[in-house]
Amino acid sequence: MDQELPPDNVAASGERRFATDIRAGLSHAQKSIPCHYFYDEPGSLLFEQITQLDEYYPSRTETGILQACVSEIAAGVREGTVLVEFGSGSSVKTDLILAACPEIRVYIPIDVSTTMLDSAKRRLETKFLTLAVEPLVGDFTSQTALPRHLSQRPRLGFFPGSTIGNFGHEPAVALLAGFRALLGPRSRLIVGADLRKSPEILVAAYNDAAGVTAAFNLNLLGRINRELGGTFDLSAFRHDATYDVAAGRIDMWLVSMRDQSATAAGQTFQFANGERIHTEISQKYSIEELRRLASRAGWKPDKVWTDQQGLFSVHELHSPA
Ligand code: SAH
Ligand code: AVI
Repeated sequence: MDQELPPDNVAASGERRFATDIRAGLSHAQKSIPCHYFYDEPGSLLFEQITQLDEYYPSRTETGILQACVSEIAAGVREGTVLVEFGSGSSVKTDLILAACPEIRVYIPIDVSTTMLDSAKRRLETKFLTLAVEPLVGDFTSQTALPRHLSQRPRLGFFPGSTIGNFGHEPAVALLAGFRALLGPRSRLIVGADLRKSPEILVAAYNDAAGVTAAFNLNLLGRINRELGGTFDLSAFRHDATYDVAAGRIDMWLVSMRDQSATAAGQTFQFANGERIHTEISQKYSIEELRRLASRAGWKPDKVWTDQQGLFSVHELHSPA
């Protein structure tokens, strides 16, 4: 992972990867941009605004579920536990776990967003005085090891936010298998997953009236302009989010509003009027589907908690000895 390189090399290798991914994604017949590029500093702040929107029920619903079930989660936590969070962002939900589990001595948030990791570390070390926060900057899909000095400690994984929905079914199995390998035998993983529900609620959650999700989506093109010398005219693209009922999946798109070209990372790309760039999937699962995926990844599904309306689910998974 990137964090093993000195800071200058981290930035350079990150920029090279970004350029390669953008050139590849915009060269396919169906143009696409990997969704983890949403989360530069402005994008991370826009995501935080999304979590406060009336239409975006997942964040407040998952928080409510965690408040109700955290004592059950805490019951299995042993002294000296390391809490590892995948895609930690602002780490706000983490407070609930840490407050209920004084046995957790080390917190390892993993995220691509350095600014979010820095502010979470400062905030949590001030609030939980006996906690060591050891962030890992980088892509959690390629994280293969935790710091060696923590190898003998019990591990609890935390993957909230329904970030698992940003992976298709097969990639989600691979991801959960990777987390199991990383956390090791006898570990536990708490996963938050958004549930299937009426299309109206879902479409509104990804097409909010204030346009924050649109700004979040368009920021991808802004980031390409800022970091890769891009020439995208942001006013010539619009946000769209569609729901495929059969697949149970939201797709986000950036739609070209005219025939145009744009240059990025040294290459020029053509966009027809109405052509769409695919920017995100947000898969919605049934409880059983999520448990099946987890089983295929070698986890043993245990408890599941939901809210009264059945909007969102929180799953407890065990890694066999
Ligand atoms: N866990 C928080 C944030 C969810 S938003 C919550 O529940 O509110 C998704 C987070 O995952 C963002 O902070 C983003 O930067 C991070 N992220 C997305 N894809 C990632 C990847 N492949 N590797 C590491 N972090 C990733
Ligand atoms: C982080 N992830 C689970 C969010 C989601 O709902 O898929 C990202 C997001 N995209 C648009 N709104 C929020």
